[in-house]
Amino acid sequence: MQGVTVVDHPLIQHKLTLMRDKNTSTKQFRELLNEIGMLICYEITRELPVETVEIETPLTKMKAPAISGKKLVFAPILRAGTGFLDGMLNLVPSARVAFIGLYRDHETLESVEYYFKAPEDIAERLVIVMDPMLATGNSSIAAVDKLKSRGVTNLRLMCLLAAPEGLKKFNEHHPDVHVWTAAIDSHLNDHGYIVPGLGDAGDRMFGTK
Ligand code: URA
Repeated sequence: MQGVTVVDHPLIQHKLTLMRDKNTSTKQFRELLNEIGMLICYEITRELPVETVEIETPLTKMKAPAISGKKLVFAPILRAGTGFLDGMLNLVPSARVAFIGLYRDHETLESVEYYFKAPEDIAERLVIVMDPMLATGNSSIAAVDKLKSRGVTNLRLMCLLAAPEGLKKFNEHHPDVHVWTAAIDSHLNDHGYIVPGLGDAGDRMFGTK
C-alpha cells in the first residue's frame, strides 16, 4: 500500500502478538507499547539528516556524524498516543513533546479536539504524530490538520495497528505524510474497532474497562 511502511521486525511482531492477547495484563500491555514505540521510532528516524562535527577521542581528533537540525517533536494524540512516549524519549531524550487532545464521539466516530499544547516554533521542526490505532483515520487526520494549521510541513505518523479503511482515508487527506505501523489488520467493525485488533488501546493501557 502507498504511503505506508509496515515495520515487520520479529521483535515487534512478537511483542504485538502479546499485546493482542486479551489475557495480557495492563502493566504488560503498557510496557510492550513503550518497547514497540522505541523500536518503531528507531525505524522512523532512520533517515534523519546528519552533519559532520569535530570531536576529540582520548586518542586523537576526528570528524564524526551527529544528527543535524532542530530537535524533533513527538506529538501523542491523547490518550493512547502517550503509550509510545516514554520509549521514544528514551531513544531521543532531547525531543520536544506536543500534546493533542482528541476524543472520538462514539456516535459519529468524528474527532473532537479538547487540548493542544506544542512548542512555539513547532513549524520549524520534524513532528512525529503518535496514535497506536489508525482505525477510521479521523483522529490522525484531525491531528495533522491542526499541526498543518500551525505551519508544520515536515510530518510523519506512527501507529501500532492500522485498518485498511483508515489508511486509505488518511492517505487521501494527507498524501504527504508517510505512515509507519507494526501491522495492517483485516477491517473495521461497525463500531469503528480494528479487527482482529487488540480492543480499546486506551482502556487496555489504563485499565478503564
Ligand atoms: N481505537 C482503539 O483503541 N481500538 C480500536 O480498535 C479502534 C480505535
